[in-house]
Amino acid sequence: MTYKKIFQRSVTVSKKINNLKNNSYSIFDKYYFLHKNVIELNNYKELQKVFGWEDDPVLDRPDIYDFDYIEDVNERRIRDAESLAVVMRNVKPKIALEIGTAGGQGTALMAINAPECIVHTVNIPPEEIVSGKGGKHTTIALEIDKIGNYYKEKGIKNINQIFANTATWTPDIGRIDVAFVDGCHDKQFVVNDTKKILRSMFQGSFILWHDFNPSLVDKFNWIEDVCLGVESLYRRNLLTGKIFHIKDSWIGIYKV
Ligand SMILES: C[S@@+](CC[C@H](N)C(=O)[O-])C[C@H]1O[C@@H](n2cnc3c(N)ncnc32)[C@H](O)[C@@H]1O
Repeated sequence: MTYKKIFQRSVTVSKKINNLKNNSYSIFDKYYFLHKNVIELNNYKELQKVFGWEDDPVLDRPDIYDFDYIEDVNERRIRDAESLAVVMRNVKPKIALEIGTAGGQGTALMAINAPECIVHTVNIPPEEIVSGKGGKHTTIALEIDKIGNYYKEKGIKNINQIFANTATWTPDIGRIDVAFVDGCHDKQFVVNDTKKILRSMFQGSFILWHDFNPSLVDKFNWIEDVCLGVESLYRRNLLTGKIFHIKDSWIGIYKV
């Protein structure tokens, strides 16, 4: 073989290696399963197409149009509300679970989109957050009588409030059709909460994680933790299918 041919062949081989490097991910990559399984959607209408849904979400929550923090850019609150509401509206769950009640805005959205459903919502008592038992990324420790105030003031009735730390609480509310995981955002809490919820789910249930957005893992450390938690669930074979993520939202949507 001439030197020219040897040179051309080595150029071709190195191009192929570069293509492989650019196009494929190794199992050793931190987010291998997320790279393979997360499907980005332009808007909630695309999610409706994926699942053959027809009903539009009810977005009766004025606060989703507010802008308070850098985290709210690109209408993130609206995209989050659409993600959660369109699932509740179309799955028509009988039993739903929210982990992390806070003021109760998410709870209200879940409940008004599925009036036939009981939405069980769990929040840690504030003293357990202060004592460190609730984890690190806990967002807020509202006084106990302020937790869920929003839906209470609106008079929404299809909600059951539970005070518990999910580190030690196990769902005992029957078969869960939809769960929204939005309590402590530490990796171990995301794994632990999801594992317990999956035991009460069946084929066709939906699980949603808040603070899930793979493109923001280097920007916000709690999003990194949530994404690492979900990645870890794939590595344990507890998740196997696709996660849908509506562009600019912070919610991952998974059908069991
Ligand atoms: C981000 S806020 C929830 C927001 C709410 N889901 C919404 O959409 O309006 C997180 C809530 O989870 C609660 N929390 C944190 N750690 C928890 C734990 N280990 N168990 C239960 N709740 C927890 C916090 O006190 C806080 O109220």
